[in-house]
Amino acid sequence: MFQKLAVAAGLMAALIACAPKKETGSQEWKKQSFGKTASGEEVELYTLANSRGMEAGVITYGAIVTSLKVPDAKGGIVDVALGFDTLEGYILGPDPYFGAIVGRYGNRIAKGRFSLGGVEYKLAVNNGANALHGGLRGFDKQVWKAKPAGQSLELTYVSKDGEEGYPGTLTATVAYTVTEQNELRIEYSALTDKETVLNLTNHTYFNLAGQGEGDILGHIVTINADRFTPVDAGLIPTGELRSVERTAFDFRQPIAIGERVNAAEEQIKLGKGYDHNYVLNGAGGGLAVAATVTEPKSGRTLQVSTTEPGVQFYTGNFLDGTLKGKGGKVYQQRYGFCLETQHFPDSPNRPEFPSAALKPGARFQSTTVFKFSATPGS
Ligand code: GAL
Repeated sequence: MFQKLAVAAGLMAALIACAPKKETGSQEWKKQSFGKTASGEEVELYTLANSRGMEAGVITYGAIVTSLKVPDAKGGIVDVALGFDTLEGYILGPDPYFGAIVGRYGNRIAKGRFSLGGVEYKLAVNNGANALHGGLRGFDKQVWKAKPAGQSLELTYVSKDGEEGYPGTLTATVAYTVTEQNELRIEYSALTDKETVLNLTNHTYFNLAGQGEGDILGHIVTINADRFTPVDAGLIPTGELRSVERTAFDFRQPIAIGERVNAAEEQIKLGKGYDHNYVLNGAGGGLAVAATVTEPKSGRTLQVSTTEPGVQFYTGNFLDGTLKGKGGKVYQQRYGFCLETQHFPDSPNRPEFPSAALKPGARFQSTTVFKFSATPGS
C-alpha cells in the first residue's frame, strides 16, 4: 500500500514537472518546424507568449517576426503584423522584408560604396545603383541560431568578413522578449573582429486593425522628431536635416497618415508617400519614445521606444497587391506601415550623421520596444 502510494506520488510529481508552467510571467515558448530552405537548412518557428494573451511568432530564417497577436479593448486578440503562412512566401520575391531583421546595414548606402580607415569598400548593389538592406543576401535571408528561454528568444548570426562586401566578421545577436506589459522588446548586440559599419533594425509592417484588414490611412501617428532627412530620387539622404515645420512630415501632433500622404510636396512625391528617416528628439539619452500610433476603430495603440537616433517611417508604398499573405489576404499599397528604428541611411558616407561604425573590442548595443495597449474605440 505504502509502496503504491509512493509510486503514485512520484508519478504526480513527474506530471507536475512536465506540465507547462502557469504562473504569471512564466509561460513556456513553443517550437515547431517551418520547413527547409532550398539548401536544406531547417527553419523553426518559435512562439513566445505572455500570460495576457499576447503572442509573437518568430522564425529562424531572417529572425523574422511572422505574427504579433495582441489583445484589444473588447477582449479579442488580433494579429497586427503582415507576413506569410509558409517559408516559401518569405523566400520568393519580390521581397518586402516583412518582419525581418535587416542587416548588416539597414536602408541604403549610396552607390554601394564607403570608406573606412582609408580603405574603400564595394558592396553588393541591389537597388538601382545603391545597396539596400544588406545587399543581395542580407541578414533577412540567413538562418539564425536560436536559444529560447522563458518568454525570450535569442538569435545569433555570424556574418563573415567580406560578406556582401562588408569588412569584418560580425557576430550579431537579437533577443526578442514578449513582456507582461504587452511589449515586444528587441535587444540587439554585435561584435566585430575588424572595423565595420552596421545598422540593424526590424522591418515589421503593422496594421493595428489586423493584418490584411484594409489600408493604414486612418491610423493616427505621432513622431517625436523636429527634423527629418530629405532624400534624392534614389531615396538617398541629401545630408540636410530639415525642419518638419509646415511640411507633410510634421507628426509632432497626432495626425492621420492619410491626411497628407499624397501631399503635393517634392519629398512626398520622391518617397511615393512616407519613406523617410526622422531625426529623433533627445537621442542619445537612453530608451525614449520615438512614435505612437493609434487605430481609432479598435482603440489599439502601438508605442515605439528606442535607443537609436532615427526611425524610418515607411507607409508600405511599394506594396501593390501582388503579394498574397497570411490567411490569403492580399496586401495592397499602404496596407501596413513600418517604424524601423535605426541609424540614418547612408551614414557611412555622411560623417556629419551619428556614426554607424563599430571597432573590434567594442560591443554594439541597442534596444527597441514595441508596446501595445488598447482603449475602447468609437
Ligand atoms: C524600407 C525602405 C523602402 C523600401 C522598403 C522595402 O525600409 O525605406 O524604400 O525599400 O524598405 O520594400
